[in-house]
Parts: sequence; C-alpha cells; structure tokens
Amino acid sequence: MSGFKKRPLMSTFGLELTGIDLSKPIADEDFNAVRQNFSDAGILLFRGQGHISPADQVNFSQRFGPLEEHVLTQFLLPGYPEIFVVSNIIEGGKHIGAHGGSKEYHSDLAYLEKPSLGSVFRCLECPESSGETSFVSMAAAYDALPKKLQGIFDELDAVYDYAWSYDRRMAKIRGPLSEAQRAKTPPIVHPAVRAHPETGRKSLFLSDIWVRHFVGMSEDDSQALLAEAMEVAKRPDAEYKHSWRPGDIVMWDNRSTMHRACPFDEKNTRRLMHRTTIKGDRPLRAATKH
Ligand SMILES: [Fe+2]
Repeated sequence: MSGFKKRPLMSTFGLELTGIDLSKPIADEDFNAVRQNFSDAGILLFRGQGHISPADQVNFSQRFGPLEEHVLTQFLLPGYPEIFVVSNIIEGGKHIGAHGGSKEYHSDLAYLEKPSLGSVFRCLECPESSGETSFVSMAAAYDALPKKLQGIFDELDAVYDYAWSYDRRMAKIRGPLSEAQRAKTPPIVHPAVRAHPETGRKSLFLSDIWVRHFVGMSEDDSQALLAEAMEVAKRPDAEYKHSWRPGDIVMWDNRSTMHRACPFDEKNTRRLMHRTTIKGDRPLRAATKH
C-alpha cells in the first residue's frame, strides 16, 4: 500500500486524500481503497495535481467505469473527447469551454435514464476567492429527515423533465431546444430515494431544477414537498463549499451528493476546469449487491 492519508472535509461527508499522485499508476489494492472511500464519503479531494496530463485524468477516471462524451461537442478538449472543458475564457472571439455552471443544486445528468455515477473536476486556473463549488450529502439529508417524511419519500417516484425545466430557465438565455434535443430528453421517472449500489446506504435523489412532480401528485403539491426536502438538504452547516486552487481535483458521487456553482467575476477573471464524467446505472430503490 502507498499509505495515503485521509482528512475529513465535513463531519458527515467528504474526504481529502493525501499521498497520492494521480499521474502515476495506482495499484489495484490502493485503487480499491480509493473507490471504497469515494462511495463512503461522497466527495474526494486531491490537492497538488497540477502536473497531471489530460490523459492521466482520463486514465484515473476510467478506472471507475466508462466515461461520457458530452453532447456539447464544441467544448470537448481537442484529442480528448472524454474531457469536457468548463471555462469563461474567450480565445479568438470564441468561448473555449462551457460557461456559467448551474447555480442550483443538481447531480450531473440526473434527467437521463442512467444518470452519471460520478464526476472528476480538475482546476487549471481559477479566481482567488470566488467561483467555489458547493456540495451537500443527500445521504445525510435523508438521515436528517423526520421519520414520517422518510416514509413518504421512500414510496415516491419523481418525474424528471429536462425540456420543461429548460423552457422555464434556460430558453431565454440559450435559445430554444431543437426538436432533436427535445426528443433525446423525454420525461424520466426515478425513485425519490435511491440505495447506493456499493454501500446500500439510502440517499434522497432529487433536484431543484429538473423534478417537475411526483407520480400521482399535482405539480403544486409536489413542488411544496420537494422544497421541504431541499430545505433539509441545504440546512445550515450541511454544505461543503470548496475554494479551488490550481491543481485541485474534486470528484463527487452523483448517486449520493448534489453540487452547485458559486458566482465569480466572469468578465475580469479566468477560470479553467476539466471535467470527466463517469457513466452510471439506473437508480434503484433497493441495492442489489452490497
Ligand atoms: Fe454539475
């Protein structure tokens, strides 16, 4: 064993792992320990990884499973279709990456039939004291719900409707969705509580953005109930706000956490991040193996 060390980020979730160089091959035994920590903690932070190459990031991410290639192909790193560039930088009159990450809590690709397992986000450039990313644990949120609400959410299915959400929030900014994009994102039903496939632990699986209603419930009643759960998820002291430094990598488990981008001065500072996104499975109410 290389003997990496762990430091908790929050009392309920998140770990910093030190003593790991992600540009070097990781022995299976060490990787299995990293993976177990990832599933248990929900978020892993690795600092001091400024020297790693795009290929190193892809190789490390791929050990967790196959990677997504983002539909916004204009923002993929040339030569590395698995790396999605997130940046406000403009070169030659063009944005080099997707800009303006979601300021509302979500887990990546939750509106797909098979949402992402996890995302690996690497900081290359960032402003000094803004542009953070905030995280909450949806496993800790489930545990913090009153028993009665846990029982209600245990039974509910949520309807994710990407096109409905886009029309309300994004169409004015980015223009309307094409018919082809609309056809790719039909409403999808997921259980409101999912079991982690590797630990069996229950998490709320919800979203401020994409959940339109719960099955068998009106939109108004659904939104009120959703707001009640989200208030618990975002309760004071439950958020981990990561202040980025160049060379940081944070990877988050989309099955048990949510995140949101914090604002920064997009006109006068530069932020450049590389994301790899690991493919996931259909969320299940009960774990089949653990
Ligand atoms: Fe995201």
